[in-house]
Amino acid sequence: MNSLLRFSNIHLQYQNGTLLTEVIKGIDFTIHQNEKLAIVGKSGSGKTSLLMLMAGLEKPTSGIITYNDQDITTYTEDQLTEYRKKNIGIVFQSFYLIPNYTALENVALSLEINFQKDALSKAKEILVDLGLEDRLNHFPSQLSGGEQQRVAIARAMIKKPELILADEPTGNLDDENTEVITELIFNIATKYQKSLCLVTHDTDLAKRCDRIMTIENGTVV
Ligand SMILES: Nc1ncnc2c1ncn2[C@@H]1O[C@H](COP(=O)(O)OP(=O)(O)OP(=O)(O)O)[C@@H](O)[C@H]1O
Ligand SMILES: [Mg+2]
Repeated sequence: MNSLLRFSNIHLQYQNGTLLTEVIKGIDFTIHQNEKLAIVGKSGSGKTSLLMLMAGLEKPTSGIITYNDQDITTYTEDQLTEYRKKNIGIVFQSFYLIPNYTALENVALSLEINFQKDALSKAKEILVDLGLEDRLNHFPSQLSGGEQQRVAIARAMIKKPELILADEPTGNLDDENTEVITELIFNIATKYQKSLCLVTHDTDLAKRCDRIMTIENGTVV
């Protein structure tokens, strides 16, 4: 299997005033093309930090992260933005929807052929699949937490990104929506041969992945 994303001896420290916190303490791993990796571990163990590093939203204090053999830690902010646009679909614990765009517009935006008919009809299709047909023209503030979560997932998946990063994607959802979202993420990954890195507390969900990596206090166990 070809390696897609590789972490080599990654450390991450946060500096708050004089307090230095080492959050990631020398982690090595690889995500292969078309592989589904689950990351599990206690609260505060460093899971979200790992996804931030993968997305280039955080720079490691030391170590190398390669994507298709390119070292992304040397990228400028512009190159990282381009990297994310081109390759990565992110579903985070917070949704970061754009408040003055409707649900439909938030999803269509990520296709970057903004609001052309095609983008809107594709966005509509995926939102209808997620049970939001009556919420297309609602703004994020007019949606429940679970509805916002579904819009955020639609936005991440509509591009069929090469690498899907999902941080507790079903954390805010009821059983029925958990099922719908899980199927959507796994179906896209499987059908289009994409890679998935899924942070979850749900053991059943983790077991559906090819591999489970456990993080404890900033290291892999
Ligand atoms: N900006 C920051 N400055 C200092 N410490 C931080 C910062 N962001 C995160 N941390 C610390 O880093 C550690 C790892 O955080 P992270 O969010 O990666 O954990 P997590 O495994 O995702 O936890 P959870 O399951 O609760 O989401 C935590 O102890 C957290 O307090
Ligand atoms: Mg987290």
